[in-house]
Amino acid sequence: MKGWMGKLRAFILLGSLAFVLSGCGRDNLTALVPKGYGAHISMQLIILTTVVMTFVFLVVIVLYVIVLTRFRKKKGDPVITPEQVEGNKTLEAVWTIIPIILVVIMAVPTVFATFHLADDSDAADHININVTGNQYWWHYDYQNEEIATSQDLYIPVNTKVYIHLITNDVLHSFWVPSLSGKLDANPENENTLYIEAYEEGVYFGKCAELCGPSHSLMDFKIVVVSEEEYDQWVADMQNFNSEELDLDPVAQEGKELFEEKACISCHATDTQNYSAGSVPIGPDLTQFGDRSRFAGFLDPTKENLVKWIQNPESLKPGNLMTGAYPKLSDDEADKIAEYLLQLKPSSVTAESKEDQS
Ligand code: CUA
Repeated sequence: MKGWMGKLRAFILLGSLAFVLSGCGRDNLTALVPKGYGAHISMQLIILTTVVMTFVFLVVIVLYVIVLTRFRKKKGDPVITPEQVEGNKTLEAVWTIIPIILVVIMAVPTVFATFHLADDSDAADHININVTGNQYWWHYDYQNEEIATSQDLYIPVNTKVYIHLITNDVLHSFWVPSLSGKLDANPENENTLYIEAYEEGVYFGKCAELCGPSHSLMDFKIVVVSEEEYDQWVADMQNFNSEELDLDPVAQEGKELFEEKACISCHATDTQNYSAGSVPIGPDLTQFGDRSRFAGFLDPTKENLVKWIQNPESLKPGNLMTGAYPKLSDDEADKIAEYLLQLKPSSVTAESKEDQS
């Protein structure tokens, strides 16, 4: 009875785990449905190792079952001491060499792929973006295009895009599972990887290095657009001037408050003063109104934004915006939110691509 109950318990536990975990996958946040070159290579390595491991597993299980059934002591069998094989050179050699061969089968392609994906010798012929990790947001500096932005990274489809990765504070790790492997952001030595997306759409990125209390909220997006859309987006970003916006009176007051309350000393609102290599104190808000999320994970509604402006700590603990500016009334936060949502430089947006993907 007891054994039966144990089995039932194990069955229920495994069953519910399978049920819960099967909900974990998301099409644009999984390494198992590759949509880019790096992820595709990783997937091939995953398949290779899984095949090798399954082979080992099956061989062990088959041997185990044979031993258990064929060499079982039956009723009436005499008690014997089995032949001792300790020190048998042939056997020792067999079970040393087989694992070595298996490890080599997995290691050679893995090492080859790692060096292949880290090869940046042709970087000068492609798009190069300096990516800087910050607690808890990402800054993007498009070197040749001379534009900067944060959080939503726009790239063209089927094109090599080199990411030059560094951090401004603690270690972070840049990871877009659907498109490529993860890469650490170190404070000094720059790490490089390239992304080549096969399909347009919005892909979810995660920081994959524990970097503080809001590490799990350090999300970002990669917006993969067609080549024409990319050129359009770059031109829109280059030409966007927040001083020339045609704002309604509330947003205009918001703009003035944004300057008065010193928000502007940390956040850029257009790329007119772009300077190569400089990372702002806070996220660049040039395309804030076009973002698919803000603060990494919040839906860009005015209600969320007002809450965020008034008390960022309640939503994203440990962020550096908390306490960096005077307290704002409901009315002031509302006006600033109204202004920020007007920062829409381009008709090419994450939202328009999200609908497609
Ligand atoms: Cu940045 Cu975790």
